[in-house]
Amino acid sequence: MTRSTTTGIAFIGCGFVADLYTQTLSAHPGVRLTGVFDRDPARLDAFAAYHGTRAYADRATLLADPAVDIVVNLTNPSSHADVTRAALQAGKAVYSEKPLATTLTDALDLADRARAAGLGLAAAPCNHLSDAVQTLVMALRARRIGRPLLAHAEMDDGMIPGLRHGDWRSASGAPWPARDEFETGCVMEHAGYQIAPLVSLFGPVRRVTTMASLRLPDKAPHLALGPQGPDLSFGVLDFDDGITARLTCSILAPMNRSLRVVGERGVLTLSDVWEYDSPVRLSLTGAGPGQRMRRGLEKRILSRWAPGLMLGRRLPAPRGLGIGRLRGSGHRMDFGRGVAALARALRTDAPTGPMLDLAIHVTEVTLALQATPGQPRVTEITSDPSPWPQSF
Ligand SMILES: NC(=O)c1ccc[n+]([C@@H]2O[C@H](COP(=O)([O-])OP(=O)(O)OC[C@H]3O[C@@H](n4cnc5c(N)ncnc54)[C@H](O)[C@@H]3O)[C@@H](O)[C@H]2O)c1
Repeated sequence: MTRSTTTGIAFIGCGFVADLYTQTLSAHPGVRLTGVFDRDPARLDAFAAYHGTRAYADRATLLADPAVDIVVNLTNPSSHADVTRAALQAGKAVYSEKPLATTLTDALDLADRARAAGLGLAAAPCNHLSDAVQTLVMALRARRIGRPLLAHAEMDDGMIPGLRHGDWRSASGAPWPARDEFETGCVMEHAGYQIAPLVSLFGPVRRVTTMASLRLPDKAPHLALGPQGPDLSFGVLDFDDGITARLTCSILAPMNRSLRVVGERGVLTLSDVWEYDSPVRLSLTGAGPGQRMRRGLEKRILSRWAPGLMLGRRLPAPRGLGIGRLRGSGHRMDFGRGVAALARALRTDAPTGPMLDLAIHVTEVTLALQATPGQPRVTEITSDPSPWPQSF
């Protein structure tokens, strides 16, 4: 029997992010879009017409199509568990946008179903597979900064409520879902983009200490928002070997999505975890007192001349990860990379368990960070991801 060289995927959910997936799929010739479905008929028609793809008449028709190997769940977070469960029941592998589910009970139930049926299940974000994060992983493994001690992870997205977000549209015309984003909160929406890289670097999170807050409850009076998730959170993530990370998440403070790892002998800085080709810089702590003084002076002069400038040598990215193929799409975040990784694993009979373990772990840590505003909390984390990927 000859094995197919491509994997059929279908989207459920044709909103804002579905356009971003479609625009980056050309970088992944191993997957082919068979069609899409959305419960909003106008959105479904607009999306299918814009991208020239099949609009399935209903969810059952999509799930019954033998050409579909993977259902890509791009619905709103409150629909994730229901759509993923239905797809698994229909015998399809699933790649879900984050969070895998909005409760740990649902996430674990989905995992049990996938394992029992022998089906692949994975979830976004996939930025731990980026050229930038893999450069960081390699630099740590090579002990470029000696023993890692701590990390500062920023996920500040700017003062989103003050921007003209009502005017934002995706390529096929979907409005940016402000209500859903504000009600879900920035932790569920964004923390995973730092948690997945941190877990790739340091292994499982053992404990989360968090303080979440709703600083701007009247951020969109015209939307008459329901109960909102936090718009600010400070978390401390404890890993094995005494490594600690501080993770800040907000849609209020000026944009900063950097990740800094401090080791005994230096600092590694990734400028932006959303950009797959973001530079990674290495600054070594001076070997002797003379060198340290010279570096200190250099830094003071340069930071006055160009505040925010990052000092240090840029490290080369590992070969063959593929950001080059994205350039034509105008994107620096490769939404399709996680779907392509799941598809490749299915085609080659490689284990998909590590992808699921990571998705569960990221979900558990995210839920621990999503504390009730104003109530500090300490959560012991129970899930334990197997390291993935081991090599690249
Ligand atoms: N907006 C972004 O920039 C962005 C970026 C990265 C990830 N995400 C994630 O992507 C997911 C979708 O976000 P979005 O911005 O595209 O939202 P959206 O509201 O623009 O689109 C979601 C679409 O899913 C459809 N839908 C919801 N439940 C459904 C169901 N049960 N069956 C069929 N269709 C259903 C809705 O009708 C809607 O068209 C979320 O998990 C979000 O966290 C969004």
